[in-house]
Amino acid sequence: METTLIILKPDAVQRGLTGEIISRFERKGLTIAGMKLMQISKPLAEKHYAPHQGKPFYPGLIEYITAGPVVVLAVRGQRAIEISRRMMGKTFGYEAESGTIRGDFGSSKTYNLIHGSDSPDSAAFELSLYFQKDELLDYSRPDGRWVFKANET
Ligand code: RTP
Ligand code: MG
Repeated sequence: METTLIILKPDAVQRGLTGEIISRFERKGLTIAGMKLMQISKPLAEKHYAPHQGKPFYPGLIEYITAGPVVVLAVRGQRAIEISRRMMGKTFGYEAESGTIRGDFGSSKTYNLIHGSDSPDSAAFELSLYFQKDELLDYSRPDGRWVFKANET
């Protein structure tokens, strides 16, 4: 079981797309283990995006992610990290395939609606930035046994 950090970025909130995007994760069969509406501070954004510091798009990225409220989610399930990245699509909306979140709703290089952790290590680090341990709830969805077959390889 994996848990990944998903952020519905300021453009997703301002464009009224949060329900649509959260619904996609629910319909995929993933479980929402944590969720909050917040505005990301500059120091928090700098910690999160430290790997991008020094890149040409870094100042614009910090400005964008702190520009308005975001919805932060901890999304859980088997292969949740890989599945979520696939659901998001390529980084730039105009390159992302139709059927993905960025492909269906985005066309910008910067305003790309959603963040998702890209590895188990980054998921662990990013979850610790946004959630206290007791804010992540451990529960099962009753339909889960029809989403993941027990002992499936
Ligand atoms: P994210 O981290 O937000 O989930 O996105 P990602 O893995 O698909 O893309 P990444 O390379 O990690 O870039 C982080 C965010 O920076 C902005 N960006 N702008 N103008 C540009 O060339 C450029 N490149 C990246 C995007 O908002 C991207 O999500
Ligand atoms: Mg990234």
